[in-house]
Amino acid sequence: MIKLNINNREYQVEAAADEPLLWVIRDRLQMTGTKFGCGIGECGACTVQIDGEAVQSCQVEAGDAVGKKITTIEGLPENHPVRNAWLEKEVPQCGYCHSGQIMSAASLLAKKPKPTDSDIDEAMAINICRCGTYPRIRQAIHHAARKKA
Ligand code: FES
Ligand code: FES
Repeated sequence: MIKLNINNREYQVEAAADEPLLWVIRDRLQMTGTKFGCGIGECGACTVQIDGEAVQSCQVEAGDAVGKKITTIEGLPENHPVRNAWLEKEVPQCGYCHSGQIMSAASLLAKKPKPTDSDIDEAMAINICRCGTYPRIRQAIHHAARKKA
């Protein structure tokens, strides 16, 4: 049994400490907004925030997240500027990668309210989009930054 703080709520979960956090979030707690893509740290579909940092949850052992603040896409406020920008710029194509993309973008903007293109490319490098929505992702992040200002 491990205790995790996810989206400002405490969960007691029947899980091994070395179980990937992604499995705990999706399979044990049924928070399916966080996606499974590759399972090997290559795609970023599983990105969540831990203490505000965007991380690939398939690469984190659940035990290492104990005592930290985990945020999934379900915990990002409905009116978050990144969510709004994603809608206004119609970013997703198939949509599969985008909960991970949004969590990375929100983490970036929390740290850098006015990111440059290269800040965006660097921060978003952990997230792959098979549909190639990168230009709209970049536009949406700049749009969210302007809205926040
Ligand atoms: S599922 Fe975690 S990086 Fe692909
Ligand atoms: S929108 Fe399809 S993988 Fe990114």
